[in-house]
Amino acid sequence: DAEVSRRAALKAGGVALGGVGALAMAAPAARAEPWSWSPRGSVAGHGAGADPRTVWDPEADPVIANVLEKHNVNRINAELRTWVRNGQPVPKGLPSELRDFIEYARILPSWTDHRKLAAGFEYNKKHGTVISVLYAFASGMMSTVIPNEARAVYYSKGGQFFKDRIAKTAKLGYDIGTVNAYQPDGQMIVTSVKTRMIHAAVRHLLPQSPHWPKQYVPISQEDLMVTWHSLPTTIMQTLVKWGIPTPPDQSKGYLHTWQVCGHLLGIKDEYIPASWRQANGQSRKILKPVLAPTREGVRLADDLLRLGNELDLTLLSKPILGAFTRYILGDKIANWIRVPREPVWSPLLEFSWPPYLAVRSGIVTAAPITDNAYWLFDEFLRQFVLWYMSELRMPLSIELPQHNRHF
Ligand code: HEM
Repeated sequence: DAEVSRRAALKAGGVALGGVGALAMAAPAARAEPWSWSPRGSVAGHGAGADPRTVWDPEADPVIANVLEKHNVNRINAELRTWVRNGQPVPKGLPSELRDFIEYARILPSWTDHRKLAAGFEYNKKHGTVISVLYAFASGMMSTVIPNEARAVYYSKGGQFFKDRIAKTAKLGYDIGTVNAYQPDGQMIVTSVKTRMIHAAVRHLLPQSPHWPKQYVPISQEDLMVTWHSLPTTIMQTLVKWGIPTPPDQSKGYLHTWQVCGHLLGIKDEYIPASWRQANGQSRKILKPVLAPTREGVRLADDLLRLGNELDLTLLSKPILGAFTRYILGDKIANWIRVPREPVWSPLLEFSWPPYLAVRSGIVTAAPITDNAYWLFDEFLRQFVLWYMSELRMPLSIELPQHNRHF
């Protein structure tokens, strides 16, 4: 059961011991140097300092494992579909152990600061379109070169129904930027707690996949923080690099929206960085060194770049989306995931994107950019927003998976 495999993984220092030959992938390597990030830099300010590779989600995992084994999951998913807004009561039809867990998990952390959240919203409101482009091309594409995440997604159900998976991930990026995200009429608490439950389900299901090393439990606390850094940390670094006006209170506010999200996703407070300085430091330690290509990640990247093909939006073609990826993540990562340089758009981005943003965000009134380039970027953003709003218009419900990817 999940508890046994967790203990086994712990004993093995997080290294998988699956049967040779059954493995389509290598198990993640042990840490070269002992874990040394100090919990003093966290929102908790203190902690035991346990290596986050050896911690999963002891509150959610046994509850969800039991639900998947013993209950009618279709019925539970039908109940969960009715739970949408933060202020709504937890559906009565859920098993009592699951209701108890949700009642506990939905509580905002004591350190939630609503003034900071409001400043974070101001930032999202002002720069929402550019931020959503970065969720897709900085965070989304980066997930394909985070080996633990790329493999977990590829071999889970979400890898098979990828468009649906992306739409639901986009929902989280959308919900976190809304004015009432964490208020009773918002949806971010529900979205985060459901996501926490999905991750617990993945911990239970993936080790049962013939493609997965049996004793290796995915989505450790470290994995969660690695992915977290691919989101707000990477995005804030890029926005600052692009010269987007970022007043300190809004910068702290944007961070805070993600600190609260991290807590609701089940990340322990002792691993959630208290400031950007701490976040950048932790990211250098745990995100940068793990980035690498995998067979699974290359496939996912290709799937991602083809998502725009479905609507008749000419600027969302694979080569143009690839050019944005290369521009934002750099040549090394683009080469890893086999995204070629694009002869027209790559130079256009290199020369004209910074001046375009400077005009668009009101930093300057005139900039060295042709009308044509300006129009192309405007049109790209317009089509991008059309696309993701159309994705969000479908009824989206984050539901418990009951199986892995079928090959
Ligand atoms: C599912 C977000 C970290 C692997 C999801 C979903 C969301 C999400 C919104 C629901 C999508 C759906 O229902 O299809 C996040 C966020 C993270 C994070 C915000 C960190 C801050 C991770 C990590 C891994 C991971 C670290 C793996 C190492 C998965 C998998 C699924 C999932 C395998 C389920 C796909 C499926 O079978 O439907 N995540 N995630 N996630 N996530 Fe995460």
